[in-house]
Amino acid sequence: MTTAAPETVETTDPSALEAVFDAAVAADERIEPRDWMPDAYRATLVRQMAQHAHSEIIGMQPEANWITRAPSLRRKAILMAKVQDEAGHGLYLYSAAETLGTGRDELLDKLHSGRQKYSSIFNYPTLTWADVGAIGWLVDGAAITNQVPLCRCSYGPYARAMVRICKEESFHQRQGYELLLALSRGTEAQHAMAQDAVDRWWWPSLMMFGPPDDESAHSAQSMAWKIKRHSNDELRQRFVDICVPQAESLGLTLPDPALRWNEERGHHDFGPIDWDEFHQVLRGNGPCNEQRLDRRRKAHEDGAWVREAALAHAAKHSAPEHTDRTEHPEASA
Ligand SMILES: [Fe+2]
Ligand SMILES: [Fe+2]
Repeated sequence: MTTAAPETVETTDPSALEAVFDAAVAADERIEPRDWMPDAYRATLVRQMAQHAHSEIIGMQPEANWITRAPSLRRKAILMAKVQDEAGHGLYLYSAAETLGTGRDELLDKLHSGRQKYSSIFNYPTLTWADVGAIGWLVDGAAITNQVPLCRCSYGPYARAMVRICKEESFHQRQGYELLLALSRGTEAQHAMAQDAVDRWWWPSLMMFGPPDDESAHSAQSMAWKIKRHSNDELRQRFVDICVPQAESLGLTLPDPALRWNEERGHHDFGPIDWDEFHQVLRGNGPCNEQRLDRRRKAHEDGAWVREAALAHAAKHSAPEHTDRTEHPEASA
């Protein structure tokens, strides 16, 4: 009679593995890349992290549109730093997704062929300079509200990436607020420009939290796995409650006649969201969907030589005969 050692049983029996995973999630421990995890957990994370990474790099486009036209050197430097941060966020997240066994090439291919989505907010155009402020204040603000709870996500690499991303997002939100404040306190025309931008970005930023809880396909399972910590509607409410006093300090009006404090609930009530618009943009019919994807594909093609050069460089340096010492004898002392 042969019996397997107990540890072998533990690492191959699917129900035992699942029990170890469930216990770790229940105890608020982190799941790491080498740990066993259910296939559906892995697939959900890859889908969410890919969509998140895609949003970071597509999100560079609407604001990059204003870099050459920023009204001062200071504003230009801030905007360039912000757009570069977004590229960095994309890199952290693609790297985090790679720890689940899904390569960056595969994810980019899915983005370019329309098989994976990015946040619909980036399919709206940036018509004036004030849009840079409205994006920072509202879009980065909504992103922070969504992402701070992800710092406690059950998957370790995703949670750790979010810690750094959230620090940078808070700079993005502040620069947007400060930009809008300067415009709001400026000339009448500048104030009107700031108000117009807020009028256009307010509702799409509320849509960033996703469909209402009763229509959200993935929410319940994601919350059980502690990938998500709060529901879409909870986060949306939190965001509205944060924005109302900030809009007041900015001297700007949020474009919702139904917006008012509800003493009983301890929250602001707000008007209905146009979910038809949300689904139209999601389906590819937003004002800039085509332009965003075309530009992304072209940027990828234009960057092919950089990827080839980086691979050639890495191959050369990993070759056994290659050492710096033969080229730089002074370094061998
Ligand atoms: Fe970002
Ligand atoms: Fe940002």
